[in-house]
Amino acid sequence: MTILESLKQEGVDYPHGCATGLCSLCKSRLISGEVSHQDYYESALSKEERAAGLVLICCATPQTDCVITPVQQDANLPPVRTFDSTVIAISELTHDITRITIADASDKPYEFLPGQYSRISFGGAEARDFSMASRPGEGTVEFFVRRIPDGRVTDHALRTLVAGDRVNVRGPFGRAYLREGHIGPIIAVAGGSGLAPVWSIVTTALDRGMTQPLHVYLGVRSEQDVYMEKALVDLSTRFPNLSVSIALSEPPPGSGRRSGFLHTVLQEDFGSGNLSDWVGYVAGPPPMVDAVAATLAQLGMPGARCYTDPFLTAAAGKVQSAAGA
Ligand SMILES: Cc1cc2nc3c(=O)[nH]c(=O)nc-3n(C[C@H](O)[C@H](O)[C@H](O)COP(=O)(O)OP(=O)(O)OC[C@H]3O[C@@H](n4cnc5c(N)ncnc54)[C@H](O)[C@@H]3O)c2cc1C
Ligand code: FES
Repeated sequence: MTILESLKQEGVDYPHGCATGLCSLCKSRLISGEVSHQDYYESALSKEERAAGLVLICCATPQTDCVITPVQQDANLPPVRTFDSTVIAISELTHDITRITIADASDKPYEFLPGQYSRISFGGAEARDFSMASRPGEGTVEFFVRRIPDGRVTDHALRTLVAGDRVNVRGPFGRAYLREGHIGPIIAVAGGSGLAPVWSIVTTALDRGMTQPLHVYLGVRSEQDVYMEKALVDLSTRFPNLSVSIALSEPPPGSGRRSGFLHTVLQEDFGSGNLSDWVGYVAGPPPMVDAVAATLAQLGMPGARCYTDPFLTAAAGKVQSAAGA
């Protein structure tokens, strides 16, 4: 039994999220004792962190009595709350990504940090995790939802969702949020619907006057998966510190598009550089997030400054490709 399972059994409310070694929310310091770790994603716990005595308690089984403490948050995170809202608008962004806009909470605005996510039940369906694509305090909250073939929520339940339907929101969660105090360059890398948190981070950073170089990378499979391109290009015209690159893992011949997986594209662009004073935000399918985080580490970015948001549950992780969420 993992430490997290034991704590749950005892009724202890300990910080955690996915319970499968993906999200890093259960990261803890092992003060004493020994644990054995099951498999987990390296983007959730780097080798250096493991060597420094940090553990993921959702994947750690105690071998002796253990003393653990949750790792410190580096900001005062907004409180987690639950509220009901309604769907205001639904629009197609691509053949399989839909923008869903909901009303803000009616009593007081939903407080979240750009890059965080919510656990949402749309129209009474089972709750699922989706990242906020809009900025905090806009009066409405937006999500980019990718349809998973045969997914109980994203394929079946959302087919019948219409404006006016009820939504239940719990959140915010997640630590891959914009660090406004960082003054060095920023790189924000999105695979498919991973653009949701990246869009929130980037638009907030620019809106708040962050003027350091800001590089956005969007990776998708093919031409039909490209979205938000005009909005990204318009933004880079307005803000000269912003650069935007879109790469297709399966471009049609002669498309003129950049081709390749995101980690190879980053290697091409920054292979000769040193990203030691950069900060990175990476969101999308776990294999892509892992590959990009490993590349950024090779390029000198400290693991503690690479904030990752692998999308989906452990079961789903096994069926994803690195091409795009
Ligand atoms: C922190 C976090 C933030 C997220 N943010 C977003 C977001 O902003 N936008 C977004 O579109 N998604 C996001 N996701 C992923 C989203 O939560 C899942 O796609 C969703 O839960 C699928 O629910 P479902 O009921 O449709 O699929 P299920 O019925 O639960 O699963 C059906 C089948 O599809 C597989 N599957 C489930 N999810 C995926 C997936 N993502 N890719 C491939 N196969 C999958 C399952 O393993 C299963 O075999 C996020 C996930 C996490 C953990
Ligand atoms: S709860 Fe342990 S990594 Fe998500």
